[in-house]
Amino acid sequence: MTTSFKVNGKFIVSKSSADTPLLWVLREELQLTGTKFGCGMALCGACTVHVDGQATRACVLPISSVAGKSVITIEGVTQGPDQTIAKKVQQAWLSESVSQCGYCQPGQIMSTVALLKKTAQPTLTQVDEALSGHLCRCATYSRIRQAVQVAAGTEQSRSSS
Ligand code: FES
Ligand code: FES
Repeated sequence: MTTSFKVNGKFIVSKSSADTPLLWVLREELQLTGTKFGCGMALCGACTVHVDGQATRACVLPISSVAGKSVITIEGVTQGPDQTIAKKVQQAWLSESVSQCGYCQPGQIMSTVALLKKTAQPTLTQVDEALSGHLCRCATYSRIRQAVQVAAGTEQSRSSS
């Protein structure tokens, strides 16, 4: 049995079994290793991608669930349908020097893009809610909050002050 879907705008036919988590198809079959494995239990957010525009945990999503859908990963988000927002987020992540080891950052960025698509200028409470399921072992949380606000235009970059 095969599953057909789109990844970063490209049509994909996967031969993985229907219950294979999307994360493993992305990483092992398609070599899209920007999406990370953290917990495998939908608890840490490292594996977050967009499925039909929604931030989704790829580690617990069987490949059968994405049949006919459009998946966007960190590798494609700045060329995808949300590219304007994604580029602002990418720029803010750089200007605020958010990343440390970087492991959690693809997931944090994917959820941030989904948040700003829904709510262009979120309050800090909305930012915290949207990113509360994302763990960062390097504790970059305050810089992430700052970068989200810079990307949303509600806060000036610290690098420009
Ligand atoms: S690896 Fe998917 S939420 Fe942790
Ligand atoms: S930057 Fe290292 S886990 Fe978040």
